[in-house]
Amino acid sequence: MTCHKMSQKKIFLVLIVICTVSLLLHRGGHFNWNMEVFHPGCTTLPSHPAPGLKPKQTNIVFLKTHKTASTTMQNLLFRFAERHNLTVALPVQACGHQFCYPRSFASQLIHPHTLPANIITNHMRFNKAELKRLMPNDTIYITILREPASMFESLFSYYSHHCQSFKRVPNGSLEAFLKEPFRYYRPEENESVYARNTLTFDLGGNKDRPATDVLYAKAFAEEVERVFSLVMISEYFDESLVLLRHLFSWDLDDIIYIKLNMRTSSSKRSLTPDLDAKIRAWNSIDAYLYDHFNATLWRRLSALGLECVTREVRLLRQAQEKLMRTCFGNQMPIFRSAAEIKNKDLRPWQPSEKVDIVGYDLPGNISHEAQALCRKYILPEVSYTQMLFNSQSLRHRRIFQKQTTQKSHSLQPPIHTILPRHSQVYRSQLPSTDAVGTPPRKGSTSTQKPATDNKMFKPRFTNTKA
Ligand SMILES: *[C@@H]1O[C@H](CO)[C@@H](O)[C@H](O)[C@H]1NC(C)=O
Ligand SMILES: *[C@@H]1O[C@H](CO)[C@@H](O)[C@H](O)[C@H]1NC(C)=O
Ligand SMILES: *[C@@H]1O[C@H](CO)[C@@H](O)[C@H](O)[C@H]1NC(C)=O
Ligand SMILES: *[C@@H]1O[C@H](CO)[C@@H](O)[C@H](O)[C@H]1NC(C)=O
Ligand SMILES: *[C@@H]1O[C@H](CO)[C@@H](O)[C@H](O)[C@H]1NC(C)=O
Ligand SMILES: *[C@@H]1O[C@H](CO)[C@@H](O)[C@H](O)[C@H]1NC(C)=O
Repeated sequence: MTCHKMSQKKIFLVLIVICTVSLLLHRGGHFNWNMEVFHPGCTTLPSHPAPGLKPKQTNIVFLKTHKTASTTMQNLLFRFAERHNLTVALPVQACGHQFCYPRSFASQLIHPHTLPANIITNHMRFNKAELKRLMPNDTIYITILREPASMFESLFSYYSHHCQSFKRVPNGSLEAFLKEPFRYYRPEENESVYARNTLTFDLGGNKDRPATDVLYAKAFAEEVERVFSLVMISEYFDESLVLLRHLFSWDLDDIIYIKLNMRTSSSKRSLTPDLDAKIRAWNSIDAYLYDHFNATLWRRLSALGLECVTREVRLLRQAQEKLMRTCFGNQMPIFRSAAEIKNKDLRPWQPSEKVDIVGYDLPGNISHEAQALCRKYILPEVSYTQMLFNSQSLRHRRIFQKQTTQKSHSLQPPIHTILPRHSQVYRSQLPSTDAVGTPPRKGSTSTQKPATDNKMFKPRFTNTKA
């Protein structure tokens, strides 16, 4: 009898154990997530803020390179800045949405309403001395590179209508260009920056050093390594974000993104090993940089622990999927060509009829909160820059008005400085505080339609000297 009771008890205990285990295994989602976060091999940073944690890095220079997934990264930084009330330095109107690229960056190209700045991320040609003068002394510099062959194919197609070096090529043939590049390429032309060693040029280097000058490439890579604390790699975007999260002490939420500014697969082409080799030879400094920093990235990922990285990448992708479900209902989003996107602000800029840059539309049946949240993730570069400018400008004027009313009820007339127009873009000194508090310029109010025309894209040069 007792013996029978004992075995019943045992069976009962075994059942409880089985139940508990299966419950744990099938709980899914939340529970697994916590287990993973507190995995002993990976405790460098929890995914949520905890007391005693290093504060988040908020002063950042992101050098936005061309055709490298940098628009997605810029969107991530814009959203971070908005959530944390940070100021993003934005270009004066005469520069469009870029800092008068391909001119070298100068602090006078920043609109005074967007100073003092925490973050700078719009397209520019890098200029360390000017940035150092402008940014707080604890600023961290980061950038992103892409594999040179696929990058050049992308540049060749994206700028086929804007870059003379590419326009001269018969039938727009990449093969023809690479066979005799010097027949079509003119280094002195403004747009030649898209036709050779574009990454090197963006980073402030000399794109026209001959391929034989390996010492230059090596010295330049070392210089980049000294300035930039992290060089991300497009092909390993999520892994790069994990490194960024650790470097910046950010939360998992801070690195969630939706991919932006992509071509349809029909306007991409695959490359033969022969073309691949020719592109690398033509863009030899970029190729050197890429190989150098890809190796650096993987060394650093190994140092962090590849298991830990894989786990964080998985968490990031889970969070992304959840966001996609919130934003696009239960089905995954469909890429749409610009013409198909109903909301004009959400249409990405189209370089030509030959290249289709796809974007997203939001379904009408999601909640208002979801609309407001999701819109930010898919807002194209030009629209977002304009929107940030409007909100920062408003905040700037509000703070200024408060300061003047607090200071005194002086009878001085309001300051009516003419705000930076073309002539002031080239001032040699920093914008003075006199420019602060002037009424908004025409054309910078929210009623202005986002400048998505070709003029915004082309750098506008004026010959005015300071
Ligand atoms: C940002 O500013 C708003 C309004 O001034 C304030 O309500 C909010 O708490 C601030 N957020 C942070 C993170 O400082
Ligand atoms: C950075 O700037 C702050 C305030 O402007 C100053 O107190 C600090 O000493 C500076 N740090 C360095 C390393 O220069
Ligand atoms: C350009 O295309 C035309 C017609 O398709 C062809 O006859 C010509 O040989 C091509 N030229 C080059 C340089 O490929
Ligand atoms: C570069 O652009 C400016 C303004 O668009 C133009 O005046 C200048 O001639 C161009 N330079 C070259 C070499 O094309
Ligand atoms: C980047 O480096 C890793 C590690 O060395 C290598 O496996 C990978 O092939 C490289 N990627 C490219 C695109 O060269
Ligand atoms: C929104 O509509 C689509 C079909 O148009 C549907 O599949 C989806 O479930 C709807 N989402 C919500 C949240 O109602």
